[in-house]
Amino acid sequence: MHPHDLDTPCLLLDLDAVEHNIAAMMAQLEGTGVALRPHFKTPKCPQVAKMQLDAGAIGITVAKLGEAEVLADAGLGPILMANQVVGRLKIDRLMALLARGVDITVAVESEFNVRELAEGAARSGQRPAAIIEVDNGMQRCGTTTPAETVTLARMLVDAGIDYRGIMGYEGHMYGQPEAGPRAELIQGALASVNRHVEALAEAGLAPAIVSTSGSASVGVASHTPGVTDLQAGTYVFHDSHHEAFTPGVYRYALTLLTIVLTVRERYAVCDAGMKSLSADHGPSFSRDGSYKAARLSEEHAHLTGAGIANLRPGDKIELVPSHADTTLNLHDTYHVIRGGEVVDAWPILGARKFK
Ligand SMILES: Cc1ncc(COP(=O)(O)O)c(C=O)c1O
Repeated sequence: MHPHDLDTPCLLLDLDAVEHNIAAMMAQLEGTGVALRPHFKTPKCPQVAKMQLDAGAIGITVAKLGEAEVLADAGLGPILMANQVVGRLKIDRLMALLARGVDITVAVESEFNVRELAEGAARSGQRPAAIIEVDNGMQRCGTTTPAETVTLARMLVDAGIDYRGIMGYEGHMYGQPEAGPRAELIQGALASVNRHVEALAEAGLAPAIVSTSGSASVGVASHTPGVTDLQAGTYVFHDSHHEAFTPGVYRYALTLLTIVLTVRERYAVCDAGMKSLSADHGPSFSRDGSYKAARLSEEHAHLTGAGIANLRPGDKIELVPSHADTTLNLHDTYHVIRGGEVVDAWPILGARKFK
């Protein structure tokens, strides 16, 4: 079937581009000794995670327990949850995963949370595994001083929790548009993680895992001594926001197919509104960049740019999401494309698993 025979709006996933992106990432890491646990928050689809594991990833990173449950059901892992599991309801879900034999490591960053994990372990008879999240400048979660990190590592060990290492995420790099200052910011963030590593080693608590990095910091992080593995996510589908940070490296694998409803003198309108396309990273563009979704309402996009002159009502067009993750999270299915034909439909089982 030709993709344009599909009803709109819907997501197209170009398998050739996915394979290119996976290979491009693995090529960057070759010979560095640094491993990859790609972040599932982007594909949210076991078929894609399996492709990443088959290509050499040593595990999968998730943000949410719901995503971990999807991977566990698919028999994929080991799982690194780069986020805290807080509150009894979630702690008990974590213990249930452990009871199923799932290899999952979760992030902790407070004494409160270590105590919660220890209580969950006592209730369930399971032994959770944890890494400590350090704040390397992003100012989200994470310990801020190496002394705090050492205290948490000791608490984990004393509580009988399997202490596996530390993690940081230099996501604030995306706020720096200039390549030079951004590289310095990333180096500074990784140096700050390494100060925690040194303090842990001095305390006899050297971390086995030192996990960091998003798609735009892989180049620096994979050449930073001390870093053992990376959590990059977006690279696998790529989007127009990330293109500014990694120009020319990855291909756009994900597009939104939408139909043109009307064409006026200065604009056109298609059936891709904010219920099927996100705009938190700015407007989405056509593949050739000749028009953009300048404004979204719930069910409509306002298209502007020279390229609208070639559009006619009823035309099916593809928009490259500016933010792949938040767009695909609105959908349930990838229509999988190979050689210009629809060859499969993959459920996005991790979509909207925000608990
Ligand atoms: C903790 C953590 N690690 C890794 C990533 C992956 O970053 P990117 O999407 O730039 O590859 C994210 C992104 O949100 C994250 O929150």
